[in-house]
Amino acid sequence: MNISTAVVEKVIREAGSIAMSQFKDLANLEVNKKSSRDLVTEADVAVEAYLKETLGREYPQFGFWGEESGQSADQTSRWIVDPIDGTHSFSKGQYFWSISVALEIEQELVFGAVYAPALDDYYYAEKGKGAYKNGRPIHVSKEDQLADSMVATGFACLRSYLKDNNLMRFNRIAEVTTGQRRFGSAAMDLCLVADGQVDAFWEQELNLYDVAAGALIAKEAGGTVTDFKGQEGIFPKQILVTNGLLLDQLLPLM
Ligand code: IPD
Ligand code: CA
Ligand code: CA
Ligand code: CA
Repeated sequence: MNISTAVVEKVIREAGSIAMSQFKDLANLEVNKKSSRDLVTEADVAVEAYLKETLGREYPQFGFWGEESGQSADQTSRWIVDPIDGTHSFSKGQYFWSISVALEIEQELVFGAVYAPALDDYYYAEKGKGAYKNGRPIHVSKEDQLADSMVATGFACLRSYLKDNNLMRFNRIAEVTTGQRRFGSAAMDLCLVADGQVDAFWEQELNLYDVAAGALIAKEAGGTVTDFKGQEGIFPKQILVTNGLLLDQLLPLM
């Protein structure tokens, strides 16, 4: 795969310290609105600029696509980066936000890392080599009873412009499972499935940079990554990630 996971981890952890320095000084954090629900702070911009410059210097052969700066020309092989996933949470001083970095080589995801600086949790996976949290192998949960499961989501379901009534989907799942969680970072949600902390995650209206790294980590941890019909693959606009054991029980509710 011609990258060093240790070098990339060092770069991402350094990006995390840039974010943390802003996180510790929220009173002076500049926050702007890209849309009614999408914030961007100077921390998002600074982290992305650092990752673009440093990864570009270490690995000039790859392009770069970041949420805040867009796509570089070469996109056959590229870094796919969300500099801060969970910006709203970050701006409020909450701990569930993350830096998400994926590497796609000729349309194949080969590496993904999600780092939560405020929790100091670093998740990563290389295709075919398993998933890790802080250097230890991780695996999805063994929960096979829907009634005992805990499911994470994001609240796109409350957005009226969505074609199908997502709130009904949320209610169907909440009625038959034990717990719902909304952590505020889709990239983290996927890692929590990989680590067995939640049993499944679903959301609509995401983007590839939200989910690319976390989806590879979840898959390498033994999870399933599909759309709401069970079609395998990463569908950011309609993503369902499970521990595998619950997939068939969840699909009829989606
Ligand atoms: C957001 C987070 C959140 C999800 C939103 C995303 P951002 O990413 O992933 O969990 O529900 O749809 O936009 O904007 O903070 O990078
Ligand atoms: Ca955003
Ligand atoms: Ca995001
Ligand atoms: Ca973001």
